[in-house]
Amino acid sequence: MKKFILSACTLFFVASLAQAESGADSWDLVSKGRYIAQLGDCTACHTQPGHPLFSGGVAIDTPFGQLIGANITPDPETGIGRWTFTDFQNAMRKGHRPDGQLLYGAMPFTAYTKVTQADNQALWAYLQTVQPINRAIDTNQLPFPFRLRSALNIWNMINFKEGEYKPDPRQSAEWNRGAYLVQGLGHCGTCHTPKNIIGGDKGEHFLTGNTLGVWFAPDITNNSHTGIGKWSQKDLVEYLKTGANNYDIASGPMAEAVENSTQYWKDEDLNAAALYLKSLNTRRTEPTPQPIAMDNTQMVTGKAIYADRCSGCHVPQGEGVAHLFPKLADSPLINGDPVSLIHVVLAGSRAGGTVAAPTHPAMPAFGWNLDDQNVADVLTYIRNSWGNAAPAVSPDDVKSLRKTLEKTAQ
Ligand code: HEC
Ligand code: HEC
Ligand code: HEC
Repeated sequence: MKKFILSACTLFFVASLAQAESGADSWDLVSKGRYIAQLGDCTACHTQPGHPLFSGGVAIDTPFGQLIGANITPDPETGIGRWTFTDFQNAMRKGHRPDGQLLYGAMPFTAYTKVTQADNQALWAYLQTVQPINRAIDTNQLPFPFRLRSALNIWNMINFKEGEYKPDPRQSAEWNRGAYLVQGLGHCGTCHTPKNIIGGDKGEHFLTGNTLGVWFAPDITNNSHTGIGKWSQKDLVEYLKTGANNYDIASGPMAEAVENSTQYWKDEDLNAAALYLKSLNTRRTEPTPQPIAMDNTQMVTGKAIYADRCSGCHVPQGEGVAHLFPKLADSPLINGDPVSLIHVVLAGSRAGGTVAAPTHPAMPAFGWNLDDQNVADVLTYIRNSWGNAAPAVSPDDVKSLRKTLEKTAQ
């Protein structure tokens, strides 16, 4: 009898030890998963401001209409509470739901497919600790015929290559970590890679710049005219961590990406991502364009407007003031698609705040006191001065963006 009690006690002791240990393990797994959710910026599309974490409702504009981020809390009716890990892994890796329905590419599974199963397991463990919220979301707001999911089969055939990231043995472990983050969880290509007419990535032009409605996500490869070729690895890390560096200040969708995601990346992950970006240069062979001549009429008027309205902050030679007013001279963003530039000049912009750099410098709106021709002239001047060279901006471009901005009230 005594022996029985003893062994029962031992059993209990061993069992509770084991439980404590698996408790610590699962805690580690959950905190790893929480970090993976930050790396992947799930919140951007699944947490609507003012609503509980991951309860969905964020509208995502696509050229085909709107999709709404799903409720991914563990609620059994309206969230993913009835899913198994395999169901979740299939959504991330293959882009389909447990009922077989295919997901739209607005959920960036084309990038998340690269995520390892171990990382998905941690993410899954974390998602299960989130407060379940009963909130029904109809994710598909697309008009006919785009709202038919049956066409997604063909879309996937053209645009989707399933498979976990395979490390390149010729590269260092750090480079591979960077590639894994940029191509996979970071889904940087969702915004920075140009798209084909059905909205899929043009893979051969990975990260060379893409227009997102009223913003332009510039080339972030190492090209020295259109990309971040002149930035050091340290400049890139600083931008991703704080939203600003000596060259630029993040606005619009990038300010949000920094605020929700990259500011929380560990330094070693930011360094790895930067190292990888610095190794990409697919446009090396393209010749650098020549700037428009200074005696061109748009250039002459643009120069006068710049001196009068802009040079106070951006300084006469376009050098800007580090962390406060972005540098316009020799800047890849200025040489790219002008849509963001027109947007910022018409509507103004307030840079995002981060833990590391909490001030929000602001660019005033000029839409009310500069007409379409003025805006086109000043931007043409900026795009062809101080080392920049890019096509002129036409008053028609300004006019049409002004209309779009009025319609969407920004
Ligand atoms: C750029 C926006 C975006 C980001 C970032 C994003 N999602 Fe989604 N997600 C969506 C959209 C939109 C849908 C709905 C798609 C549909 O209905 O076809 C969705 C659907 C899902 C679904 C399927 C839910 C269901 O009930 O069908 C899961 C699971 C999911 N997302 C998980 C995640 C996780 C985990 C992350 C972060 C690693 C993430 N998403 C990041 C936009 C996004
Ligand atoms: C939601 C869309 C979106 C996502 C996701 C995104 N970016 Fe951006 N990014 C932008 C936009 C838009 C800009 C231009 C910001 C501006 O005008 O200030 C930008 C700017 C940048 C710049 C500055 C380039 C320059 O010349 O000034 C860098 C560097 C950058 N992004 C890196 C990244 C990396 C790395 C990732 C992935 C971890 C990423 N971005 C994900 C939209 C995005
Ligand atoms: C009061 C100071 C101030 C004045 C005046 C000003 N800007 Fe700006 N500008 C800023 C700030 C601050 C930003 C960064 C805003 C952000 O990132 O959201 C900015 C951003 C920009 C950008 C986007 C650059 C980038 O890399 O993201 C352009 C283009 C620009 N300004 C052009 C102009 C032009 C053209 C004028 C004159 C018509 C002008 N600015 C006048 C403060 C100013």
